[in-house]
Amino acid sequence: MLKGKRILLVVAGGIAAFKVHELIRLLRKQDAAVRCVLTEAGAKFVTPLSLQALTEDKVYSDMFSLTDESEMGHIQLSRDADLLVVVPATANILARMAGGLADDLASTVLLATDKPVLAAPAMNVRMWSHAATQANVGTLTARGIRFVGPNDGVMACNEFGPGRMSEPVEIVAAIEAMLEAEKPAADKPLAGKRALVTSGPTREAIDPVRYISNHSSGKQGHAIAAALAQLGADVTLVSGPVTVPDPAGVAVVKIDSADQMLAACLAAGAVDVAVCAAAVADWKMAAPATAKIKKQAGAAPPSLVLTPNPDILATLSRPGPKRPRLVVGFAAETENLIANAIDKRTRKGCDWIVANDVSPATGTFGGDRNTVHLISAEGVQDWPTLSKERVAMQLAGAIALHLTRPRPAEAAE
Ligand code: C5P
Repeated sequence: MLKGKRILLVVAGGIAAFKVHELIRLLRKQDAAVRCVLTEAGAKFVTPLSLQALTEDKVYSDMFSLTDESEMGHIQLSRDADLLVVVPATANILARMAGGLADDLASTVLLATDKPVLAAPAMNVRMWSHAATQANVGTLTARGIRFVGPNDGVMACNEFGPGRMSEPVEIVAAIEAMLEAEKPAADKPLAGKRALVTSGPTREAIDPVRYISNHSSGKQGHAIAAALAQLGADVTLVSGPVTVPDPAGVAVVKIDSADQMLAACLAAGAVDVAVCAAAVADWKMAAPATAKIKKQAGAAPPSLVLTPNPDILATLSRPGPKRPRLVVGFAAETENLIANAIDKRTRKGCDWIVANDVSPATGTFGGDRNTVHLISAEGVQDWPTLSKERVAMQLAGAIALHLTRPRPAEAAE
């Protein structure tokens, strides 16, 4: 979705600048045009040559270079971009942006621009929490600058806390969300609609250190939440423990167990569409141990007494005034896929089932591609093998079509 977009990276001087290479690679992979303005301090961490090679474009650093100005003036640099990203946004460059300084090419471009600006802060934890930096962030936020991160973590200075720059994938997601927000209303058929998506596995405690879970990666569910948000929906994503990043522009509620997932879904309130993509554990411990179950030499292994988990999809599908207009479930099967999925649609009471074969040979669990069949009251649609993102976009499109169609009663009026 970044194809043809023009991204201007303002690369400042921080150790996190090394992540810029991966960021450029990810943006170029999506066919975005990337150009860099490199500060003097930035050039101490990454070389103009490496940026030039990766962007396949000239790198701009000198405001007073006659060649640079004649080829591309500082105003033109911002005019020629759809979005500017300050990466890493050091305490220094944030202070200069907040103060309106224009004493080098980077600060001048940032002052001259009327394009959306995203900043990815990276600095020592004390510099980030310092009142001066926080005041600058407040000033910049009030002026419409968007921020991604910083994350908590161990930093290059061996301290722990907020200050670590977001990962390149997170920055790309934030760029996508910002560019989406710029799109005209015609591209947002789900504007004003609320969506609930469940994703990832659940973890059911055996004792305080052990749990029952499954291999769900959350890739498909997270992609669906992102795709619905791209079409303008107000999305709540209830996610089990996953390693995929939170989709940008989506309210994420993180849970562990199926009981917590159900409570979070009910707490999300009335929605127009619910998509249950989570791989909810079917059973939980009848009585999880409150202390770690100890191994006893020579004793038989403990037997785990299980009890069924609540069925979230079936609960959300129950008829009533609060039922979403559309409830979509998933059927992950290893045999008799279609027959089992058709049966599941009736048993759960949902409107649509997205059926996919998760036999190990298909590589669906944790993989990037998916072959699905969309089962509704109208019949079965076989979709070709697509990336999980494309499956998500196609499903979000079908949901938008359904929700924007007049209901049968309205149509008859
Ligand atoms: O019953 P089964 O697990 O095969 O059903 C799969 C569908 O039901 C998925 O959409 C899954 O998210 C949902 N489900 C649920 N709560 C459960 C079990 C499954 O929402 N306890």
